[in-house]
Amino acid sequence: MKTGSAIVQSLLIAAVTFSGSAHAQDAANGKKVYRRVCMTCHYLPKENKNWFGPSLHGIVNHRSADNPDFIYSTAMKNMNIIWTEDNLDRFLKRPEAVLPSTKMDFAGVSKPEDRSDVIAYLKDN
Ligand code: HEC
Repeated sequence: MKTGSAIVQSLLIAAVTFSGSAHAQDAANGKKVYRRVCMTCHYLPKENKNWFGPSLHGIVNHRSADNPDFIYSTAMKNMNIIWTEDNLDRFLKRPEAVLPSTKMDFAGVSKPEDRSDVIAYLKDN
C-alpha cells in the first residue's frame, strides 16, 4: 500500500509538471507505433481478450488493472489510478521507472511525439 501511494504521488507530480506539448496528436502515426511496439503483447479491438499483456481496448481514462481476466502484477494491481493521458505518457516513457516490479517487460517509447500519438490512437479504440 505504501508503495502504491508513493507511485500515485509521483504520477500526480508528473501530471502537474507535464509540459503539455504543442505537438498535434497524430493517431495515424500512433497506429504505426502501436503496431511496431505494443501489438506483440497487447490486443486492442475488444475488451477481455488478453495476450501477454491485458487488452488495451478503452484504456484511456479507464481505471488501471481493471481487466477481470488478466492476472496483473501485485504492483500494478495496487497502483489504482486512472489512465489519463498524462499518466499514460509517463508510464509509456519508462514503465520500469513508474512501476519497478511491473510485468510489462518493455523499455518504453522514448520519443514524446510517438507517445502522444500512440495515446491518440488508443483514445480512438
Ligand atoms: C513485452 C510485452 C509488452 C509490450 C511490448 C507492451 N506491453 Fe503494456 N503491458 C504488458 C504487461 C505484461 C502488462 C501488465 C503489467 C503488470 O501487471 O504489471 C502491461 C500493462 C499495460 C498497461 C496497463 C493496463 C491496465 O489494464 O491497467 C498499459 C496502459 C499498457 N501496458 C500499454 C502499453 C503500450 C501503449 C505499449 C506500446 C507502446 C505497451 N504497453 C507495450 C506487456 C507489454
